[in-house]
Amino acid sequence: MKHFLTVVILGAAVVTLVSAASTDGAISFEYHRYEELRKALVSVWLQCPTITRIYTIGESFEGRELLVLEMSDNPGTHEPGEPEFKYIANMHGNEAVGRELLIYLAQYLCNQYQQGNETIIDLIHNTRIHLMPSMNPDGFEKAASQVKKQHPGEIKDWFVGRSNAQGVDLNRNFPDLDRIIYINEREGGANNHLLQNMKKAVDENTKLAPETKAVIHWIMDIPFVLSANLHGGDVVANYPYDETRTGSTHEYSASPDDVMFKSLARAYSMYNPVMSDPHRAPCRKNDDDSSFKDGITNGGAWYSVPGGMQDFNYLSSNSFEITLELSCDKFPNEETLKSYWEQNRNSLVNYIEQVHRGVKGFIRDLQGNPISNATVSVEGIDHDITTAKDGDYWRLLAPGNYKVAASAPGYLTVIKKVAVPYSPATRVDFELESLMERKEEEREELMDWWKMMSETLNF
Ligand SMILES: *[C@@H]1O[C@H](CO)[C@@H](O)[C@H](O)[C@H]1NC(C)=O
Ligand SMILES: *[C@@H]1O[C@H](CO)[C@@H](O)[C@H](O)[C@H]1NC(C)=O
Ligand SMILES: [Zn+2]
Repeated sequence: MKHFLTVVILGAAVVTLVSAASTDGAISFEYHRYEELRKALVSVWLQCPTITRIYTIGESFEGRELLVLEMSDNPGTHEPGEPEFKYIANMHGNEAVGRELLIYLAQYLCNQYQQGNETIIDLIHNTRIHLMPSMNPDGFEKAASQVKKQHPGEIKDWFVGRSNAQGVDLNRNFPDLDRIIYINEREGGANNHLLQNMKKAVDENTKLAPETKAVIHWIMDIPFVLSANLHGGDVVANYPYDETRTGSTHEYSASPDDVMFKSLARAYSMYNPVMSDPHRAPCRKNDDDSSFKDGITNGGAWYSVPGGMQDFNYLSSNSFEITLELSCDKFPNEETLKSYWEQNRNSLVNYIEQVHRGVKGFIRDLQGNPISNATVSVEGIDHDITTAKDGDYWRLLAPGNYKVAASAPGYLTVIKKVAVPYSPATRVDFELESLMERKEEEREELMDWWKMMSETLNF
């Protein structure tokens, strides 16, 4: 962390000179190797210093920083009531399009903000956005060196750089919480935050790659509401669950939030003309796309993935995550990058906007103190979410009428009826009376009654 700051400051001096020379605010549609990625993020930071921050969540196996660019009106802090969003790309190092799109997205948001685009200003003022262009920088460097050696048009090795430097496929490396939730569904048990109080076990688990551990900590430390991870090799928006209940290869595996997840995946695919094209030919002749509809698919219906990051988010935190497959070619020619940006730009922005749907608000006690880690349950949906430090919560929901309950140990549960439109989120605050306060009230009532009785009866 310390080391990184010095590097940024040194890097900053260099980049100032460079960016003064290049046309201000233009997006450069090219591949960014590790050093260039770092410089690209620093240059966004220098251009938009009041709404950005660069930080690192840890290091890859070979010691490269896992860099994040944050965009918000108050970078560096969680503002009570403001939802948090994240994009992670390039966890498969050879899937390069998402990595570049997140760099372009950062540049685009910064440019539009400066140009006074109201949509983007509102988005940045009301959301804390985290962009991680590469979760697997080691794999990317390997894939990029391989691609360079190839003659254009030659078939590339499909898998070089997919894994991290230890050979671990990061999207199979997360604790397999689907197995636990499927047992809990049958036998009873928690329906959320399945890794509660197990941080130490995560740290000590030698099977987890450093990149995976860093991301697990990140997921647990920040109250993310919505996220997506960006891949390549196909073109579709994939939603939970990824792992099938029976262990079969293909099987629709609905999560309790199936309706909302479909809506979220659709919010991405509908703005991408290629993804949503019903006549799009499969990426490869023998691909089985039969589960794809309107550019979206249930993960398990496509093919079962145990240990993936998407389901891990949903089952270990409040974050709803989908997986975006953005290109048939995992590492396409540089000349095509601009067209991928054009296909995905509106989808990338629109998907962030989805964080402002459903029900949101605060849970407090009768004195107005926040109740953190309180539970928000929705009747008919067997997946609860919890409040963050300031008692704030965000419960993503598709349009409809719901009964929402707020509860916490030691407090009386409050249930409210809520009508939810497509957007924006409906604000619903809860005030919970503690059981001790209730007992106190009852005691006082009894005393009053006793006093009245004794006065009336005159004894
Ligand atoms: C403002 O940003 C939105 C979202 O990206 C975009 O659709 C719109 O075209 C932008 N407006 C202008 C004037 O560029
Ligand atoms: C949050 O609440 C749950 C149940 O209400 C409890 O099991 C868990 O330990 C709490 N977590 C923290 C960090 O307090
Ligand atoms: Zn992938």
